[in-house]
Amino acid sequence: MNLILLGPPGAGKGTQSKKLLAEYQIPQISTGDILREAIRTGTALGKKAKPLMDAGMLVPDELVVEIVKERLQASDCAQGFILDGFPRTLPQADALEQALGRLGKEVDAVISFEVPVETLVERTSGRRSCPKDGAVFHVSQNSPRQAGYCDKCGGALVQREDDREDKVKARLLAYRTQTEPLKAYYTQRGLLRTVNGVGSVDGIYTEIQRAVGRA
Ligand code: AP5
Repeated sequence: MNLILLGPPGAGKGTQSKKLLAEYQIPQISTGDILREAIRTGTALGKKAKPLMDAGMLVPDELVVEIVKERLQASDCAQGFILDGFPRTLPQADALEQALGRLGKEVDAVISFEVPVETLVERTSGRRSCPKDGAVFHVSQNSPRQAGYCDKCGGALVQREDDREDKVKARLLAYRTQTEPLKAYYTQRGLLRTVNGVGSVDGIYTEIQRAVGRA
């Protein structure tokens, strides 16, 4: 199963990717996570990406396309993959189509999350993440057992730099102008499946399974 999860910041792409990964044992490829790890370890990629991500802007296509092209060739993608946060621009979508064509693969479905802006702002502003193991919580919707600490490893939770309100506004604008045109792109290809991204995490997951014919 080769899936793309498409949606604005805070739509629930990462949350739902982790559920799909747990059930179907196919890797989640999150370009955001890969870039944050590059920043954390201080690589050349991380140094280029940091100022743009901190400002809520997209990283140049050529950088993310190379990451994804390489990642898709790994053996754990043989049975499928979940692209979380990629593609985000039309050139990225074209590059993906070409790269998959060379590998003899294609996208099975694009899950597009519909969530009102107020909910997106509420979710991103309340999100807390564990820098050690990547676990994601929310201060009120999905709170850790002990406030401020990861349930899995006990590490201190942090707020992402780009989850501050002014940065979220910039990310929403980038989504609207650069990413939303992908809905028409994938509608033309018969791949777009729209799901309501508001509701319980499990309820939304069931809707996704229906959309990909696995319910
Ligand atoms: P990225 O990390 O991809 O961020 P994003 O797309 O903005 O998405 P988020 O991680 O904010 O949200 P999400 O949809 O995964 O929601 P989540 O499940 O965590 O990208 C960050 C930056 O990297 C970009 O701005 C850009 O600079 C760069 N970048 C990345 N990819 C790129 C690309 N392809 N090209 C160029 N630049 C790129 O949920 C959010 C919160 O809500 C959590 O707290 C969660 O617990 C909670 N929640 C989730 N579901 C529910 C629910 N149903 N009910 C209540 N709460 C919920």
